[in-house]
Amino acid sequence: MVEKQRIGNSELFASRVALGCWVFAGGPEWGNQKEEDSIATVHAALDLGINLFDTAPAYGGGESERILGLALQGRRDEALIGTKISSSHAHKEGIIASCEESLSLLKTDRIDLIQIHWANHDVPFEETIEALHQLKADGKIRYAGVCNFGVNDMSNYLRKGGEMVSNQLPYSLLSRAIEYTILPECRQRDVSVLPYSPLLQGLLTGKFKTAEDVPTGRSRTRHFSCDQPGVRHSESGCESETFKALSDIENIASEAGYFMSNLAISWLLHQPGIPSVVMGARTPGQVEQNMKSLSQNMKSLSVPLSTEELNRLNLVTDPVKSILGSNPDLWQSEGRYN
Ligand SMILES: NC(=O)c1ccc[n+]([C@@H]2O[C@H](COP(=O)([O-])OP(=O)(O)OC[C@H]3O[C@@H](n4cnc5c(N)ncnc54)[C@H](OP(=O)(O)O)[C@@H]3O)[C@@H](O)[C@H]2O)c1
Repeated sequence: MVEKQRIGNSELFASRVALGCWVFAGGPEWGNQKEEDSIATVHAALDLGINLFDTAPAYGGGESERILGLALQGRRDEALIGTKISSSHAHKEGIIASCEESLSLLKTDRIDLIQIHWANHDVPFEETIEALHQLKADGKIRYAGVCNFGVNDMSNYLRKGGEMVSNQLPYSLLSRAIEYTILPECRQRDVSVLPYSPLLQGLLTGKFKTAEDVPTGRSRTRHFSCDQPGVRHSESGCESETFKALSDIENIASEAGYFMSNLAISWLLHQPGIPSVVMGARTPGQVEQNMKSLSQNMKSLSVPLSTEELNRLNLVTDPVKSILGSNPDLWQSEGRYN
C-alpha cells in the first residue's frame, strides 16, 4: 500500500504519486500513443497503488478522458478522477456542458476533483463559482480546485466564495518559479499544490543530452530559445544552464545510487504542502520505474534525501530558476498568471 495524503481540506486522500494522462492524447507534444499502452499504463498504476488520475478535456479534445474512462471500467472505485474545465468554457452553461461531456467520456457519474484549467479573466469568478456550486449540489462533482492560479487569482477567487482544495502548478527541479510567492501562499491558505510536469516532460529522466535531442513539441518551453519551432514566447531561454543543471543532477543521482527521475520526484515529495505529484507516463515500465521514488511499505520514501542533498539540488538548479524568474508559465512570457 502506497502512502496517501489528504488534498487540502477535502476528504480526498491521494497516493503521493498520481498519474497524469495528457500523454494518452498523443499530439504534437507526445507523438503516437497506442490506446492499449495507455490502458495498460492505468492498470499498472492501479496495481502499484496509484489512485489519483489527472486528465482534461483539452488533452486531445477529450481523447485522454475517453481512454481513462475505458481503462477504469470495472475499477472505477479504486480511483479518484481529476479533470478540468478549459478557459474557453468559463461561462456557467459552458462549465455545466463541459462537466456533462467529461462524465460521459469518463463513463462515470461523478468527478472527484474538478479543476479550472486556466483562469479566464474575461468572465467574472462569481459565474464560475455558481456553476460549480450547482454541479456539487447535483452530486456531479465532489470537490473543486484550480490550476495555474497566481496569488491575486487565488485571493480573488477565495474571497468570492470559490472552493479551492488544490492548485495544480508547474513545479520541478527545473521549473521552480512558484517558490517565489505562489507556493508560500498555497501553504498559508491550506491549498494543496499538485505539481505537474515533474520531469519537465521527460528531461529530468536524463534521456536528452542536448537541446537538439528534445522532441519539437517539448522544446517549446521557456527553457529553450524562441528560435525553436512552435514556441509562444519571445525569450532567449536558458539551454546551456538547463543542460548543465541536468548533468549536475545526474551526478548527484548516480553518487546516491538513484535514477534521476526518482530523485526528481522525491525532491518534490520532500517539499511541504504537496500531497501528490502528477507524473506523466506512457507505459507500465515508466510507471514502475517512477514509482521507485516511493516505498511500497507506506510512509517512507525509498529515495530519501538528506538536507545536504536537497541543498545541492537547489544550488545546481538556482541558475535556471533565476533566469526563468517568477513567471511560472512554462510556455508563455506573460499574461496568464495573475
Ligand atoms: N494543469 C495543467 O495546466 C497541466 C499542464 C501540463 C501537465 N499537466 C498534468 O501533469 C501531467 C504530467 O506532466 P507531463 O506529462 O507534462 O510531464 P512529465 O510528467 O514531466 O513527463 C512525462 C513524460 O516523461 C517521459 N517519462 C516519464 N517517465 C519516464 C521514465 N521513467 N523514463 C523515460 N521517460 C519517462 C514520458 O514521455 P516520453 O516517453 O515520450 O519521453 C512521459 O510522458 C500531465 O499528464 C497532466 O495530467 C497539467
